[in-house]
Amino acid sequence: MLQALDARHAAVPGILEDSEARSRGSISEPEWLLFEPLIEEIQRLKKERNALLIAHNYQTAEIFHGVADARGDSLALARHAANSSADVIVMCGVRFMAETAKLLCPDKTVLLPDLEAGCSLAASITPEDVRALRRQYPGAPVVGYVNTSAAVKAELDICCTSSNAVRVVESLGAERVIFVPDEYLARFVASRTNVEIIPWRGHCEVHERFTAAELEEYRAATGAYVLAHPECPEDVQLAADYVGSTSGMIEELTARHPKRALLLTECSMSDNVAVAHPDIEFVRPCNLCPHMKRITLANIRDCLRSLSPAIELEAGIAERARSAVRRMLEVR
Ligand code: 13P
Ligand code: SF4
Repeated sequence: MLQALDARHAAVPGILEDSEARSRGSISEPEWLLFEPLIEEIQRLKKERNALLIAHNYQTAEIFHGVADARGDSLALARHAANSSADVIVMCGVRFMAETAKLLCPDKTVLLPDLEAGCSLAASITPEDVRALRRQYPGAPVVGYVNTSAAVKAELDICCTSSNAVRVVESLGAERVIFVPDEYLARFVASRTNVEIIPWRGHCEVHERFTAAELEEYRAATGAYVLAHPECPEDVQLAADYVGSTSGMIEELTARHPKRALLLTECSMSDNVAVAHPDIEFVRPCNLCPHMKRITLANIRDCLRSLSPAIELEAGIAERARSAVRRMLEVR
């Protein structure tokens, strides 16, 4: 069955890689029969529209392996968007990622297959909150995680992601910095720099659910090497063997190659990484991001057909938000 399907689709870009995901168990055969016509239609529509489809590490296997042209963490996705010559960008991620792509590519059509794909961190802070922090800590620059709305980005000095947060904070040369909105990422940065960090109280609804007790139970039962995202609570970070962004975790796994690994982050990430690392056994506590999971093959197909919903940003906000994102991309 697998061979017959591979032979039929050998000429379709993306399908061979997808068959690799199938053969390693990320996509079952019955699932494949369901996904196959949608994957084919999306591949065809991408060509017709001159569209680039970029997918976050948390997307499901059929999107990540079946239709994505580029994949990565939120920083990598922003760079892919900025460097693309496509007319249309389809963001398989959440709204703040699509807004970031639109800021970097104002002349392109940026599609988000479901506009309700939000983020609890982005929802935790408003532009007025940032202005109040500036009044409370006069002179302190504001660094904002890219997990914020465009309206909040417009109030920032500079953006960061979890993979460049320490470098961004230190690039400012300030003694103290306001860091919004993720409290746990702020504490992670504070533990790695001498700059004083003033945190906000935002949390990720997915990562805040992990506990140190759960981590120790998994470790005792499996002996797994534990990698945690810096959006996890502090005690989880302290108990983990490695703390870093989604791309940082992939680099660490590639370099260290443990026999067993436990990724304390969104559930689909282990499935996606397992395809490239068949000899690592993944222990999978399954915390799903409900926002990431709003993106499906069906709504990707629909948005490519209708070129909607597209991201539109108010010009004044976009101009100020863009400079915070561009400033981040200049930090090496
Ligand atoms: P990364 O920057 O590591 O991709 O994380 C984004 C995110 O939303 C994690 O929950
Ligand atoms: Fe936001 Fe958390 Fe979902 Fe990432 S995993 S998009 S931080 S809610």
